[in-house]
Amino acid sequence: MISSVLPTYNRAPLAFVKGEGSWLETADGTRYLDMGAGIAVNVLGHAAPELVAALTEQAGKLWHVSNLYQIPEQQKLADQLVENSFADTVFFTNSGTEACELAVKMARKYWYDKGQPERVEIITFEGAFHGRSSAAIAAAGSEKMVKGFGPLLPGFVHVKWGDHEGLRAAINERTAAILIEPVQGEGGIRPVPDQCLKGLRDLCDTTGTLLIFDEVQCGVGRTGRLFAHEWASVTPDIMMVAKGIGGGFPLGAVLATEEAASGMVAGTHGSTYGGNPLGCAVGGKVMEIVTDPAFLDAVNAKAGFLRQKLEGLIAAHPDVFEGVRGQGLMLGLKCKIAPADVVKAAYAEKLLTVPAADNVLRLLPALNISEADMAEAVARLDAAASALEPTKA
Ligand SMILES: Cc1ncc(COP(=O)(O)O)c(C=O)c1O
Repeated sequence: MISSVLPTYNRAPLAFVKGEGSWLETADGTRYLDMGAGIAVNVLGHAAPELVAALTEQAGKLWHVSNLYQIPEQQKLADQLVENSFADTVFFTNSGTEACELAVKMARKYWYDKGQPERVEIITFEGAFHGRSSAAIAAAGSEKMVKGFGPLLPGFVHVKWGDHEGLRAAINERTAAILIEPVQGEGGIRPVPDQCLKGLRDLCDTTGTLLIFDEVQCGVGRTGRLFAHEWASVTPDIMMVAKGIGGGFPLGAVLATEEAASGMVAGTHGSTYGGNPLGCAVGGKVMEIVTDPAFLDAVNAKAGFLRQKLEGLIAAHPDVFEGVRGQGLMLGLKCKIAPADVVKAAYAEKLLTVPAADNVLRLLPALNISEADMAEAVARLDAAASALEPTKA
């Protein structure tokens, strides 16, 4: 018999009833160290006092009014995002996949209004993940994502990861935009090298193509800069954000330049809940904290500490791990065995990690995790790896 929750997830037999910082607790009081942060969401950890205060204060005042009216909390968060990024304007969504929908609509509408309605194609990359809506699965294009869900939304062109020639060849008079994650998340923590992001920007400038960055997973301080593309000193025309921006409250956004957003006039897009007072009150507090240069400096220092510990772990378990990659606190341990087995062995050590494609185990902790908790996480990973090496145990 089908479960009352639609069984689209292979869930671990674990349920948590409370969280604090980087720790989660089950009903019987067992504590788990959380190096996944709800898949790169809880940037300030669980039950962060500042976010609890922002949410409860707003909850006591006003939850929802709809976008028929001005929403001061939404205006404040939009101003914060504009002030701290390339963008001139922001639309709020409730998730990353909704941000993908708007990014695609915005790019197509841009060219339609410019009198080039044939420019509809969006170029994406192998291994990409942009969400589970119809546009997002068509954007990803992999068999795993799209099989059985046709007919697919047309107009997506897929290029191999790192295939510069293929990318150049894919751009033509029908191209509207290039859509890329500066650091692929689900694809296995694959950062796009800075010079490639620069090259992409140049290519877009010379061909008049819009550049869309998906920073749903790598944005909001995760890589040690507010947005990952800042490392390469390039800016997109449109950017998708979600996950970390709400610190655990469902919130997403599309940021854009005035030019790229020029087609999105009144009546062209909407969302009942997007940008509601609750989400924006929390998002405003997250932004206040993560835009502090001292906070980002601390993320980079923590990342250096964790990476060094992981190098030691890899050296100690060459049959399990083969390397670490990523940026900031968005790290991937390339495994020599199935990462799902490492995730399972880590559960036995009361440690939460997240698998990804390309045989990678993701570590995406809260951005304010302590050094002691990171050291403890690596010690638990060490125990998990030892359990997977019976001859050495
Ligand atoms: C890069 C990227 N884009 C988009 C999404 C989709 O976000 P959501 O699950 O909030 O729809 C994800 C989710 O993992 C993601 O990692």
